Amino acid sequence: MTHESTLPEHVTANRGAWDEWAAEYVAAGRRGWADNVPTWGVFGIPEADVHLLDDVAGKDAIELGCGTAYVSSWLARRGARVVGIDNSPKQLETARALQAEHGLDFPLLLGNAETVPYPDASFDLAISEYGACLWADPYAWIPEAARLLRPGGELRFLTNGLLLVLTEPALEAEGPATDRLLRPLFGMHRYEWEDSPGIDFHLAHGEWIRLLRENGFDVLELRELRPPEGATTTYEAVTLDWARQWACEEVWKARKRG
Ligand SMILES: C[S@@+](CC[C@H](N)C(=O)[O-])C[C@H]1O[C@@H](n2cnc3c(N)ncnc32)[C@H](O)[C@@H]1O
Repeated sequence: MTHESTLPEHVTANRGAWDEWAAEYVAAGRRGWADNVPTWGVFGIPEADVHLLDDVAGKDAIELGCGTAYVSSWLARRGARVVGIDNSPKQLETARALQAEHGLDFPLLLGNAETVPYPDASFDLAISEYGACLWADPYAWIPEAARLLRPGGELRFLTNGLLLVLTEPALEAEGPATDRLLRPLFGMHRYEWEDSPGIDFHLAHGEWIRLLRENGFDVLELRELRPPEGATTTYEAVTLDWARQWACEEVWKARKRG
């Protein structure tokens, strides 16, 4: 465990934020653990259309920012040897309780995904769904994921879509994303929101590609997720009509060069 006083400021802020929010995520965590057919993102898009869990049997996998660890549970049930790391003690409490309820045990570590206590080349797969890929600094966690992966290993992550980040109002109370660009593409990196204690991170697509390549990855895929007609969400930052036009979520897959 990283001692609190040595954590970067955004990691300390996000630990506080996620400890505060953890209770609101218990129900979603429980649903995720119970899902026999995994679905992804705020509109529940089926795994068959997303392919984040392809070819995981027998792999050493790490979930970076595992939260309630339902993604890790899906990997474990598909035959991966999985480890989850998360920065929030409270989120891990939920994850541990759900492990006990489901009788499924795998290591859960409290820590910062930017500095993971595992040797180089320990894993074949690093995955993150709205975890480190959103809440950790990409200039720290991408090099760390590259260090952790073996040559040929894959990094897969799902995060907010680029256009959502540029169009969502600064305050949740101002309503969902519209068709107006509210902030610049150039200089995308760290975001603080007036009505939230959390600090999140987003890059422009060109910068993700540059950063991934600089850290020894070949980009395999950028998939913009399109919810099907009739899909529903409880997420208030976006409407279905918006998401069907501009993609509120994106999936990246990259392979560590040999
Ligand atoms: C939306 S949850 C995503 C996890 C999982 N998919 C879920 O929904 O339970 C975001 C998680 O990222 C974790 N997180 C934030 N910053 C982190 C960091 N630097 N290292 C590891 N985990 C981090 C938070 O503690 C939180 O549990």
